[in-house]
Amino acid sequence: MSPALAFLGLSILGTWGLASIAMIAGGIILIFFPGNQETASDPTIAGIILLVVGLISGGLMQITVAPLLGLDPPIRIKAKNNIPHSRMKRWESVGPLEAFPDGTPKEVRVRSRRVAIVRQGEEAFAFSALCSHARLPLAGFPASPVKPLPVRDDCITCPFHGARFELASGKVVREPFTSEWNNDHPFLGRVQEKLLFFNKKAEDMQTFPVRVEDGEIIVGLPR
Ligand code: FES
Repeated sequence: MSPALAFLGLSILGTWGLASIAMIAGGIILIFFPGNQETASDPTIAGIILLVVGLISGGLMQITVAPLLGLDPPIRIKAKNNIPHSRMKRWESVGPLEAFPDGTPKEVRVRSRRVAIVRQGEEAFAFSALCSHARLPLAGFPASPVKPLPVRDDCITCPFHGARFELASGKVVREPFTSEWNNDHPFLGRVQEKLLFFNKKAEDMQTFPVRVEDGEIIVGLPR
C-alpha cells in the first residue's frame, strides 16, 4: 500500500471513527442528562437513536471501509485454525540475517504468504504477519506513524492495540487494550477500544519453524 493511500485511509477512518464516537457520546449524554424536560422534546428517544446510529456507524466503518483500503476485516484469527509445525515441510529462504533489523519485526512475502520475521542476534522467529486480534500488521504500516515495536522480555508487541505474544511459541501473554497500553496510546488504545467493542481479545499466533543456515533465514511453510 502506498504511503499516500495509507494516509488517506487513516484520515477517513479517523474522521468516521470520531464522528461515530461523537454520536455515541451525544446519545449517552442525552439519555442520562436530558436537561430541562419542559423545553427539550423527547431527549431520551433522541439519545437512543443517536447511540444506535453511532454504534452502527462504528461497526460499518470497521467492516466496510477497512477492506476497501486493503485491510482485512478486524475479526479475530482463531488459534484453533493454527497449523502445527509438523505440517510445515516446504522450506523457503527469506533472505540473509543482516537484511532484518535486530529485535523488531519485519514483514516479508513468501509465496504470497505474509510473514513477520523477528531476528534476535543470530536467531530468527517467524509469525503470521497479521495480529490475531484484529488482523493488523505486526510490523506496522510502512511510512506511517505506526512502527514495529522492539522485542521485550522475549515477547513481541502488536503496535496497534498492544497485545503481546511469546516469541518462541506465539502464545498471548497480554491482551489488547490493557490500561497500561491505553494510557500511553490514547488513540490506538482508548479510542480504538470503543470502536472495536465487539472484539477485545487476542488468540495465540500462527508461528512458522525457522532455520538459519549459512547466515540465511529459511522458513518452513505448509505445503
Ligand atoms: S491488531 Fe494487534 S492488538 Fe489489535
